[in-house]
Amino acid sequence: MSTINTRYLGLELSSPIIVGSSNFTSKVESIREAEAAGAGAVVLKSLFEEQIVSQAHSMSSRESYPEADDYLQYYTRTNSVDAYLDLIAGARKSVKIPVIASINCFSPKGWIDFALEIEKAGASALEVNIFFIPTDKNQNSSDSEKVYFKIIDNLRQILKIPVSVKIGLRFSNLLNFVWQMHNHGADGVVMFNRFYEPDIDINNLSIQPASVLSNPAEQRYVLRWVGMVSGQDMKIDISASTGVYTGEDAIRYLLAGATTVQVCSALYKRGFTVVTEINEALHKWMDLKEFKAISDFRGRLNYMNVDNPSLFERSQFMKHYSSYI
Ligand SMILES: Cc1cc2nc3c(=O)[nH]c(=O)nc-3n(C[C@H](O)[C@H](O)[C@H](O)COP(=O)(O)O)c2cc1C
Repeated sequence: MSTINTRYLGLELSSPIIVGSSNFTSKVESIREAEAAGAGAVVLKSLFEEQIVSQAHSMSSRESYPEADDYLQYYTRTNSVDAYLDLIAGARKSVKIPVIASINCFSPKGWIDFALEIEKAGASALEVNIFFIPTDKNQNSSDSEKVYFKIIDNLRQILKIPVSVKIGLRFSNLLNFVWQMHNHGADGVVMFNRFYEPDIDINNLSIQPASVLSNPAEQRYVLRWVGMVSGQDMKIDISASTGVYTGEDAIRYLLAGATTVQVCSALYKRGFTVVTEINEALHKWMDLKEFKAISDFRGRLNYMNVDNPSLFERSQFMKHYSSYI
């Protein structure tokens, strides 16, 4: 019988399938359900940098505006930052699987010290979801990337727990970017976040958000880049995220070199049973292929064995279009 245990960010997981950051991980009860369904770990719903900074400001204004104390006490009792720490501590007490906290951030200052509170509350690791869209034409790509490195540097200075970075889809040279994140101390990279995308309604002449949930076709782009990054000689764990609905989807990502696979949209469509089904399908496929452990096949189809990836990609591109009639 195959085993699907996995090591991710130095943590022992009973399965490579992780419940991704979402409303499914914002309550202790649902985290328990995730564990019961067979998830190897959960990533908690993100706390936003703005929430942390807003709490820090209101606490520091306490000295200058003592008359605001009543409000601040009320605020502190009900604010989401304390609730988040409670969620971490509560989840750690209630489940055996690793509980990975998540912060959605865009700057290397103002909120970093709070990461220590997250560690003290018992988080097994921290996933930082770095999100900003470059909107200034004077900021070059290197300047943008430095923000990521600075965030990692600052976190590494204060944290003992592992840190992974959840990134967006587009970078000029993703391989170099991930390599540099690794050199700055990132233990893992989550590929990729799925941002709000605008759509245009031509009848109402308005901008509408595109679907919040992914579809399986969105895996293709991720598959290529997971294969590319895992084909490099760098010891950074890759968690593949986007478009996973079935065991086959998860197996593809593992073959491309992912260490773990995150699910989110599929849960909104079908609930936690998806996790159980993916684990079952993974065991079944491994038994059929006579793989005893995930390490027997992980990364087998990554770019490590392609001598000249650039030439390979160009030739595939030419073949792809010239053979289509
Ligand atoms: C309703 C919803 C809420 C989400 N909330 C978060 C969040 O708080 N933090 C985060 O990093 N990602 C969040 N995500 C993104 C998911 O974790 C995941 O990266 C993305 O949906 C792609 O995976 P999927 O195709 O399995 O949905 C959210 C996604 C959805 C659909």
